[in-house]
Amino acid sequence: LAPGYRLFNRWSSLGLDNRWRRKLLDELPPVARVLDVGTGTGELAIAAHARGYEVTGVDVSEAMLARARASEPGVSWHIASADKLPFPDASFSAVISAYVMRNLQQSGVLEASIRECARVLKSPGRLLFLDLTRPDTAALRMGHDLYARSFLPAFGRLFFGGRWPGGYLRQSIEELWATPKLRDCFLSAGFKTFDARPLWGGIVTLFSGSK
Ligand SMILES: C[S@@+](CC[C@H](N)C(=O)[O-])C[C@H]1O[C@@H](n2cnc3c(N)ncnc32)[C@H](O)[C@@H]1O
Repeated sequence: LAPGYRLFNRWSSLGLDNRWRRKLLDELPPVARVLDVGTGTGELAIAAHARGYEVTGVDVSEAMLARARASEPGVSWHIASADKLPFPDASFSAVISAYVMRNLQQSGVLEASIRECARVLKSPGRLLFLDLTRPDTAALRMGHDLYARSFLPAFGRLFFGGRWPGGYLRQSIEELWATPKLRDCFLSAGFKTFDARPLWGGIVTLFSGSK
């Protein structure tokens, strides 16, 4: 989905995707080296770079990375999977990621990726993962389900045609592990703390851990 990916995000979220990325970056401590995991076309990494951080971005998709590279030569871009990061232990002061956790879980590498992020983090170090989630309250859930089951697939098919991956987005949101299971993963990976902070009523959640 690399061609059109940024535009689709902007329209389908009414511009909120970037606002939520900024929320994540507001939580980033004033550290030196930052790793963006699943950087995609690099929007989070580029925004962090613009705030003065020294940023490295990794992704498994060369098509996504090609767009990132063309947008910002000041970030160090690498092709790599989140569960096999090509960096020594304790290389970064912070690891960040936006809209990737669900993908890692769906491909069965979320637990290994959290462990790998802990490995490349210094101590003290901070991990911040932002992702789409299902709201808790019944009223918001109704609106969210309508959006995810009706508007999003219709818009996705219109935008991407045959490349739209069916119900994947909705399914990955609904199947994201509940907070207690994520907490166990973070703590057993070596994080001292875990927090899940819902934003916008839980349409997105900012997950964080400190080492
Ligand atoms: C929804 S996009 C998010 C991109 C970007 N973080 C953003 O804020 O727009 C998910 C990205 O995760 C990448 N991805 C999926 N599995 C991955 C893995 N195992 N390791 C690294 N990146 C992965 C995909 O290639 C894709 O670029």
